[in-house]
Amino acid sequence: MGTLDLGVLVSGNGSNLQAILDAIETGKLDARVRLVLSNRADAFALERARRAKLPALSISHKAYDSREAFDAAMTEALRAHGAEWVVLAGFMRILTPEFVSAFRGRVLNIHPALLPAFPGVHAIRQALAHGVKVTGCTVHWVDEGVDSGPIIAQRAVPVLADDSEHSLAERMHLAEHELYVQALADLAAGRVRPPGEA
Ligand code: GRF
Repeated sequence: MGTLDLGVLVSGNGSNLQAILDAIETGKLDARVRLVLSNRADAFALERARRAKLPALSISHKAYDSREAFDAAMTEALRAHGAEWVVLAGFMRILTPEFVSAFRGRVLNIHPALLPAFPGVHAIRQALAHGVKVTGCTVHWVDEGVDSGPIIAQRAVPVLADDSEHSLAERMHLAEHELYVQALADLAAGRVRPPGEA
């Protein structure tokens, strides 16, 4: 695939974004982050982007009267900055079918569970509530559903007897950072191919 031109969508802390930036910096990942885009102006992820001297933009979903209009604004910003791949890294909005088709087979997400178990926003809480002994994280292609696209990579994360949501989330994050960088490096190297491409 060669050097990946990434647009990273964020809503919060951005530790996965940081892992990607660090991997680029140290030569582990052949990519350029063309734009970091947040729906929340106060996302710490934007600060991480600014510190790395990267274009950082916030577009509030509240400024648009429909999901379609908000997603069209994001699509335009991503295109204007030259992003060819869209990396969801803690982006807390559901994407419209229009957005997914604008970047068909070019949108990746990371989810803190072994999909198809525990889709949705409370994956870590649900894993604890169900008493699973092993959970994990999943990098997958984004389709029109919620956490439902083809799986690219997974990593197991043990659940310990005295885990809280916080302690499990911390362990999860470490696994996520490695898995996301690995999946993107595999994509850049052609070891992972977009869905529908041989
Ligand atoms: C991660 O747990 C990711 O799996 C989920 O949102 C969280 C984002 O964390 N989709 P961060 O903002 O990258 O630190």
